[in-house]
Amino acid sequence: MALVHRAGCWLNVRRTGQLPSGSGRVSSLVSFCTRARHRGVCVIECNSSIQTESASAPVSSASTGSSSKHLISSKQIELTFAELGLKPIQEQVGGCRIRQHVNPLKAALVAPVKPPTWDEIFSDCSRRLTVDIGCGSGRFLMVLAKRNSAENFLGIDVRAKLVDRAKLWVEELQLRNAHFVTTNATLHLNSLLSTYPGPLTYVTILCPDPHFKQRHHKRRVVQKQLVDTILERLAPGGKLFLQSDVKEVALDMRKQFDEHLGVRLSNCRSFPRDSEGWVVENPLGLPSEREVHVLTQGGRVYRWSTFEVFGLM
Ligand SMILES: C[S@@+](CC[C@H](N)C(=O)[O-])C[C@H]1O[C@@H](n2cnc3c(N)ncnc32)[C@H](O)[C@@H]1O
Repeated sequence: MALVHRAGCWLNVRRTGQLPSGSGRVSSLVSFCTRARHRGVCVIECNSSIQTESASAPVSSASTGSSSKHLISSKQIELTFAELGLKPIQEQVGGCRIRQHVNPLKAALVAPVKPPTWDEIFSDCSRRLTVDIGCGSGRFLMVLAKRNSAENFLGIDVRAKLVDRAKLWVEELQLRNAHFVTTNATLHLNSLLSTYPGPLTYVTILCPDPHFKQRHHKRRVVQKQLVDTILERLAPGGKLFLQSDVKEVALDMRKQFDEHLGVRLSNCRSFPRDSEGWVVENPLGLPSEREVHVLTQGGRVYRWSTFEVFGLM
């Protein structure tokens, strides 16, 4: 196996089959892969004589290490969520193309969103609610929903295709306590939750997109508006769990919650913390997809979790 990287997406290349004529070089292969990816194909069959455009060296030499690491992490992610018993992703989505990044400030995501009709979604909408902001594929939340059938779970993400697929999975799993919404959570969490009849008891923000460039910091999910909403809407005793594999992002999130006026947060006391206050183990006992990926690749995750949110001081 080798991997070709194009437009932020890794494509697996199995060097056993046929390539279209004239695609013996990586540039042609990438273009072929890109076209194939538009049709939803992620694993491409090709022959073993592929040469890199610049060095004419076999692809295998440079890419085998990261390729195998990536495959291990994909496998690990599948294993983490195996209890859902979902069929392979490609069969599920019918080959939909999922963009790696979406601008959360694009017009469609900034437009107001109507709150769901909760009693049509959840079998009992007076139950405690957990919200996962930037839920990605949603499998993390679905496992929580499956394990905690007496609570409700809401996942929010800006990537509509991920959300649509998550909804299909929810139907397939017949989960009457999980729901997914496509919107910009930073802007619209408040209005989404305004009609929920039960208490908001848990909020997770796990490995949000880092948006490294200073001019893109406004695209980060944790902004004052979101902090205000969460801290105003969390029920007494409600909990918050934040994490990032990028220390700067984790610090930024932690600082923004720490700075909120009028609400006192207590860091998670029941879990061991390191000397900088980061929670050592995942307090939910279930890693998110990004977390599995990062840990499999030998990286680390900076976690911060409140034991509980106290009322106004
Ligand atoms: C790096 S992924 C992490 C996904 C998942 N939480 C995990 O840990 O595996 C970040 C996710 O946040 C979503 N996202 C980014 N900005 C968002 C926003 N303003 N509102 C909702 N989702 C957002 C992205 O589409 C992406 O799916």
